[in-house]
Amino acid sequence: MSVKDHKLAAARRALGFVEPKMRLGLGTGSTASLFVELLAAEVQSGLSVLCVPTSEETRALAAKLGVPLTTLDETPLLDLTIDGADEVDGELRLIKGGGGALLREKIVATASDRMIVIADESKRVDKLGTFPLPVEVVRFGVTATRNMIEMLAHDSGCQGDITLRLARDGTPFVTDGGNYIFDCSFGSVDDPESLDEALKFIPGVVENGLFLGIADVAIIGGADGVSVLEAHYGESAEAV
Ligand code: 5RP
Repeated sequence: MSVKDHKLAAARRALGFVEPKMRLGLGTGSTASLFVELLAAEVQSGLSVLCVPTSEETRALAAKLGVPLTTLDETPLLDLTIDGADEVDGELRLIKGGGGALLREKIVATASDRMIVIADESKRVDKLGTFPLPVEVVRFGVTATRNMIEMLAHDSGCQGDITLRLARDGTPFVTDGGNYIFDCSFGSVDDPESLDEALKFIPGVVENGLFLGIADVAIIGGADGVSVLEAHYGESAEAV
């Protein structure tokens, strides 16, 4: 089975958590897109749901497939968000934002009663930080903000390259919110909560890709099948 099969298996399992009339948050990325495709097939068969996408990319895909869409302004409370992740640790803490949608993803996930993460097994890590942490920043004063990130991350025990994300044409990548992203290669984040707090202190930082205490369930597809982990905040996640 390929990585895509593992993602698909996780997405398929997540579909089992969807109930008629639910208000759903739709994530961004290749795994979330597989979920949108599966959901669209259910909608074609008569399932009634109303969805808020976490990016323009997901909005376009869902609209093309006929998934009923709304906005978070029209529907500010959601039942469930299903999204991918770049890393998932044993406490269901996440790094997200590889696709650049971390801000809307965090807004939508925290507006939801529950968040389910779907991922292939390569995303399951013991410690966060191998995947460079995306930090979304406003364009004004971007060098000063970068320097502040470096300084305060260092105080939280994190150091490494901090690089401005570029688009394919070599110009800075611009998020749906019109901001830039720094990818921070910290290698290993021993204290995600302290790093998150430090980053939130910086005025030019809009949001960072640490999702702490947000995910309720992680569905991981792998060579041995699908495993479902549930968060018990204050304890380690438990396989169910
Ligand atoms: C986008 C994200 C994605 O969920 C994350 O990058 C995982 O993507 P994929 O499913 O393609 O591996 O956070 O901002």
